[in-house]
Amino acid sequence: MTIGIQTAAYVFASILFILSLGGLSSQESAKRGVFYGIVGMAIAILATVLGQGVHGHVYIMVAIAIASVIGILVARKVEMTSMPQLVAILHSFVGLAAVLVGFGSYLDPKTHVLSSSEHTIHLVEVFIGVFIGAITFTGSIVAWGKLEGKIMSKPLLYPGRHAVNIILLIVCIIMGVMFAGQEGTDGLLYLYIMTAIAGFIGVMLVMAIGGADMPVVVSMLNSYSGWAASAAGFMLGNDLLIVTGALVGSSGAILSIIMCEAMNRSFFSVILGGFGAVAASGDAAAMEGEVTALNHEEVADLLKEAKSIVIVPGYGMAVAKAQYPIYDMVQTLQKAGKKVRFAIHPVAGRLPGHMNVLLAEANVPYDIVFEMDEINPDLPETDVVMVIGANDVVNPGAQDDPSSPIYGMPVIEAWKAEKVIIMKRSMSVGYAGVENPLFYKPNAEMLYGDAKDSVEKILGFLKA
Ligand code: TAP
Repeated sequence: MTIGIQTAAYVFASILFILSLGGLSSQESAKRGVFYGIVGMAIAILATVLGQGVHGHVYIMVAIAIASVIGILVARKVEMTSMPQLVAILHSFVGLAAVLVGFGSYLDPKTHVLSSSEHTIHLVEVFIGVFIGAITFTGSIVAWGKLEGKIMSKPLLYPGRHAVNIILLIVCIIMGVMFAGQEGTDGLLYLYIMTAIAGFIGVMLVMAIGGADMPVVVSMLNSYSGWAASAAGFMLGNDLLIVTGALVGSSGAILSIIMCEAMNRSFFSVILGGFGAVAASGDAAAMEGEVTALNHEEVADLLKEAKSIVIVPGYGMAVAKAQYPIYDMVQTLQKAGKKVRFAIHPVAGRLPGHMNVLLAEANVPYDIVFEMDEINPDLPETDVVMVIGANDVVNPGAQDDPSSPIYGMPVIEAWKAEKVIIMKRSMSVGYAGVENPLFYKPNAEMLYGDAKDSVEKILGFLKA
């Protein structure tokens, strides 16, 4: 393939990636967006593999075939609820790739014959690429561990950690200066030291973040992985990788900013890994009040009497796959003349848009699905709020308990309704690991059990 054709293919692939991102911005066009992304990536891979100076096509094809089979198997097997873990581990691959490309490019004899200024620029690219890649690699592995429940979700905070991070950063800069001053591959030791330090910084940045803030971390690592890919593009002199990396890096950063706003966190303290700091104690206030529970028939009776009902779905709804009977129940209630709406918290579930996707899967019309900010003002006039498998996103401690790890995060104000029914299996905590004072409120009633099973039973009583 000539360079001209390759460049044209790269430009075309870049346009498809931009169209893909545009398509992913709304549910109606998301499938089209994914399709553009697949075609763009296929063109990008073909144009790169068939490009000049690439040898060993058989090995490359075998590697692509094996990786594709693994990718297809993993993607088919993964549960929707485990998607953030998958995304986190994929980010770690991008980080690792940037580190390996950096070392490979540094050791490549061809780069040693560059002119002195070009060589210095190349060394800077290698150093920065490996630095971002190592942070992304280890940070993403820790994020995966936290999301998978293999590493405690409580933030690991120790006094003076910001100072330690800054000192480590300064050491990395010194290593960079020494590295850039070396001939040939003499700077390898400095590169190794910096890689180890950057890997450590990645671990500490994500360890310092509490469970409730993980969504922002995942999107932040998404952004980091984009910059790591972009840096790899510079090292390899591959324009498409630079453009694609920048697209991922900037869209991830925009998503992080949007999520920070949704969760009332400062973007800068997020990227510096210190925003769990206020939650240092994590010792939320002791619970006051009594917990009372209803049975399915009593809940059905409450719904029969109510005129307006708001359903707040959460992670438990996803686990139980309760969205289908829930929509059956909604239709039954609507036929009985009730006003039924859904209230969606921006971080309900385990990935951005999780609840919207599940409700769309069950054919719930978009016009009865409301965002938290739209519905909160209506809750004091609502007869019944049904919290189905949600916990952190309806925790009043986020508003009135400064010692709570989720203090400051906006929440759905379910307790303001006439009656709140909380459907979950036990009194156990949600992802952030904090007790929920909502369960102890005088207008709150628990309905214990699996969400799907409970909704089906309520539906039975509603139809009887
Ligand atoms: P959570 O606070 O995690 O609460 C979910 C509740 O569902 C649990 O308390 C659990 O209680 C219940 N549950 C589990 N399985 C169930 C089942 N089969 N039937 C009924 N209930 C079940 O969920 P949330 O309110 O959706 O909040 C999301 C949390 O995840 C936030 O802290 C958020 O920051 C975090 N997070 C979000 C994301 C994104 S981007 N959305 C990513 C990572 C983390 P029982 O065990 O008692 O049943």
